[in-house]
Amino acid sequence: MAEIEVGILGATGMVGQQFIALLASHPWFKVTWLGASERSAGKAYRDATAWRLPAMLPDDVARRGVDAATPGRAPKLVFSGLDSSVAGEIEGAFAQAGHIVVSNSRNYRMEADVPLLIPEVNADHLELLKAQATCRGWKGRIVTNPNCVVVVYAMALAPLRQFGLKSSIITTLQAISGAGYPGVASWDVLANVIPFIGGGEEEKIETETNKILGTMRSGAVASHPVTVSAAVTRVPVHDGHTGSISVSLEQNADAEAIVGAWNSFRGRPQELGLPSAPKQPIVYLTEPNRPQPALDVNRGGGMTVTIGRLRACPVLDYKFVALGHNTIRGAAGAAILNAELMHCEGLL
Ligand SMILES: NC(=O)c1ccc[n+]([C@@H]2O[C@H](COP(=O)([O-])OP(=O)(O)OC[C@H]3O[C@@H](n4cnc5c(N)ncnc54)[C@H](OP(=O)(O)O)[C@@H]3O)[C@@H](O)[C@H]2O)c1
Repeated sequence: MAEIEVGILGATGMVGQQFIALLASHPWFKVTWLGASERSAGKAYRDATAWRLPAMLPDDVARRGVDAATPGRAPKLVFSGLDSSVAGEIEGAFAQAGHIVVSNSRNYRMEADVPLLIPEVNADHLELLKAQATCRGWKGRIVTNPNCVVVVYAMALAPLRQFGLKSSIITTLQAISGAGYPGVASWDVLANVIPFIGGGEEEKIETETNKILGTMRSGAVASHPVTVSAAVTRVPVHDGHTGSISVSLEQNADAEAIVGAWNSFRGRPQELGLPSAPKQPIVYLTEPNRPQPALDVNRGGGMTVTIGRLRACPVLDYKFVALGHNTIRGAAGAAILNAELMHCEGLL
């Protein structure tokens, strides 16, 4: 297969770096363009970024010049890890100019004509692109992936829809890499727990989850009716967002059926054998003290969600713990999987 050229908007950031690391050996996509702010434009990538990943920065990318985030010179397919303060305007300009923008930012996620995708859960929401073409008059398109907690949460809840998912409460323990680089000051987060994350984090969890779990009806998404309550915290963990979750279900499902639903859960990426798809998207761990970020976050190349500690909840019906890699399954890896699905569906 001929290589598909890709660009990265926000290439110098935390998510941008993860794109570069994941795409270094990608069988279909090759990075040929890097965009960031005026602060970085004109510099070689290695001088514009503070590389934070254990993976080596590939030589060709290190030497590549960073461009301003304006459409024109980038290839048709562009991944975006732009700061949300500028993503709305810049991603819109790229879509208008004919680019396919596969975005991590929150700006377009809840727009009615923009797919908010987790390919295992709602691959059929790509149908919204028809409405987007009609409504926007853009030559290109925008597709988004969810907030980094929502990916983990929605994947854990999706297999429970068959039991009549009624309501759910989530308390998160979120890694510092979720705040970008340099992110939260070490003085604030070391040996501490911060019970607040800015940018409307709780509201995102309480709205994006319903859209993702929703069903396509007459060309639009009908949101899932589950009621969600979220409380978020930042904890001194490098990578991996953990959620302590309770659910209430309409049916009387036993624990074995729930674990079976998680372990057997598969979607379009597994059917199609997409390069970034983990063989088993959700793995239930039976050890009583798992999942843990230090031990489990990199399963399936960071694309597997691990769940454990399923037990009865005296308030709702069941409670459990779920974990996922926030910059891979929750950001760059999610966007790459979206683009792989779009390629297979003839949408690139
Ligand atoms: N980190 C996560 O776990 C995570 C997960 C899911 C989604 N997200 C979302 O992904 C996006 C990026 O997050 P991050 O953690 O990678 O943030 P980050 O480390 O702060 O990186 C932000 C990027 O945006 C660029 N940028 C800032 N202002 C700009 C401007 N005026 N014009 C063009 N580019 C500009 C920066 O370029 P310069 O270096 O040139 O300033 C940098 O490349 C955010 O929208 C975030 O909410 C993050």
